[in-house]
Amino acid sequence: MAEKSKILIIGGTGYIGKFIVEASAKAGHPTFILVRETTKHPEKSKLIDNFTSLGAKLLIGDIHDHASLVNAIKQVDVVISTVGGELAADQVKLIAAIKEAGNVKILIIGGTGYIGKFIVEASAKAGHPTFILVRETTKHPEKSKLIDNFTSLGAKLLIGDIHDHASLVNAIKQVDVVISTVGGELAADQVKLIAAIKEAGNVKRFLPSEFGTDVDHVNAIEPAKSMYKGKIAIRRAVEAAKIPHTFVSCNLFAGYFLPTVCQLDIDMAPREKLNIFGDGTPKAVFVKEEDIASVTIKAVDDPRTLNKTLIFRPSGNTVSFNEIVSIWESKIGKTLEKTYVSEEQLVKKIQEAPTFGLSIELALMHFIFINGDLTNFEIEPSFGVEASGLYPEHKFTSVDEYFATLA
Ligand SMILES: NC(=O)c1ccc[n+]([C@@H]2O[C@H](COP(=O)([O-])OP(=O)(O)OC[C@H]3O[C@@H](n4cnc5c(N)ncnc54)[C@H](OP(=O)(O)O)[C@@H]3O)[C@@H](O)[C@H]2O)c1
Repeated sequence: MAEKSKILIIGGTGYIGKFIVEASAKAGHPTFILVRETTKHPEKSKLIDNFTSLGAKLLIGDIHDHASLVNAIKQVDVVISTVGGELAADQVKLIAAIKEAGNVKILIIGGTGYIGKFIVEASAKAGHPTFILVRETTKHPEKSKLIDNFTSLGAKLLIGDIHDHASLVNAIKQVDVVISTVGGELAADQVKLIAAIKEAGNVKRFLPSEFGTDVDHVNAIEPAKSMYKGKIAIRRAVEAAKIPHTFVSCNLFAGYFLPTVCQLDIDMAPREKLNIFGDGTPKAVFVKEEDIASVTIKAVDDPRTLNKTLIFRPSGNTVSFNEIVSIWESKIGKTLEKTYVSEEQLVKKIQEAPTFGLSIELALMHFIFINGDLTNFEIEPSFGVEASGLYPEHKFTSVDEYFATLA
C-alpha cells in the first residue's frame, strides 16, 4: 500500500477549512495546517486544540510571508487552500511558493546514460529532490566521475536494476515522478517499470524512455521500423495501465547530428563536400541536450502535458537539410560541393550497409529527410503540445547558434 499523501491546508481555521482539516486527519492523511501567529481568538484556540487532538500539525505562517509558505509546502505532497474569498487573488503567492518549493520528487532510471545525465542535472538544478537508480555494476571510472557530480548536486543514488522488481518498487515509492532514460535496446523492457509503478501506486507522472521522434507519426522502413515497435508498445501499455504520463518527443539530439552536419561517414564537420539526403526540403528538428533536459523537467508537473506527447518544434531549431547546409556554409564562409542522394540510392545504401548500425542510421535519414516525418503532421491538442509554445520563457539554442560554436 502506498503511503497516504501529506496534506497542507491553508485557511484551515476558516468556515469550510475546518471540515477539510477534520476529513483529512480522519482519513489518515498526515495533516498540516498553516496558522497565523495572530490566530488567537478563544474560539479558534478551541478549534486548534481539536485539530491537534486529531493528530494534525500546526505550522506558523502567513499567505503574505513567502518563506513560511515555502517551508510549509516543502513538508507535504498536496496543498489545499481554503482562504477566504477576499484573498482569492492573493493565491498567486501560493503558486509562487509551490513553484519555489519544487518538491516534486523525481527518480531517473538511466541517469548515467547519454541523455539521462543532462536530465539528472536539470532536475537537481531546478531544486527537485532527485533520485537516480544505478546498477551495482555501474563502476567504470568515467561513470564514477559522473556519479560524483550528481551527488555534489544533491542527487541521491538508489541501487537497483530494471530487471529487479523489488529494487524498482522500493525506489519508485520514494518519489512522485519517474523518468526513464534507458537506452533504446531496453525500450520493451519498460513493461517492468509499468508493473513496478502499478504496484507502488503513488506515481503522479511517468515519462518513459522516448526522447526522439514521435513514434506514432513515423513511417520508417526497416531496420528502423522494428526499432520503434518497443516504444510504441510501451506507449500503449502505459495508456492501458492508466498511468499518468508524458511522452517526450524532443526530436533529434543536436549533439548527435549537428557536429557532422548530418553526415554519417565522417566524425568532423565537413569543410569541402557533403551529402544531402533527398531534395533537402523537408524540415527536421535539432535540439540541444541541455534544452531537452530543462524543458522535460518543466513538464513533469505541468497539467498541460498530462497524458500528452510533448513535441519539440522551436522555430530556430526546425530546419531543412538545405537550410542546415547554408547555415553551416555561412559560418565557415565557404560554399561546399553537394551530392544529392535520391530515395532510391538511399534505400540501396540501407540494404547494402556493411553493418547493422549503419543501416539503422541510414533508415533514420530516410524517414527524417525523405519523408519529413518529424514535421509532416499537425500537433493536434487531442494528443500533443508543442514545447516552445508551452514554455515561451525558455530560450532554445538555435541551429545557427549551435553552429557558431563549431565553426
Ligand atoms: N533523439 C535522438 O537523437 C536520440 C539519440 C540517441 C538516443 N535516443 C533515445 O534516448 C533514450 C536514451 O538513450 P541514451 O542513448 O541516452 O541511453 P544510454 O546512453 O545507452 O544509457 C542507458 C542508461 O540505461 C542504464 N541501464 C542499462 N541497463 C540497465 C538496467 N538493466 N537497469 C537499469 N538501468 C540500466 C545505463 O546504466 P549504466 O551506466 O549502468 O550502463 C544508462 O544509464 C532512448 O530512448 C533512445 O532511443 C534519442
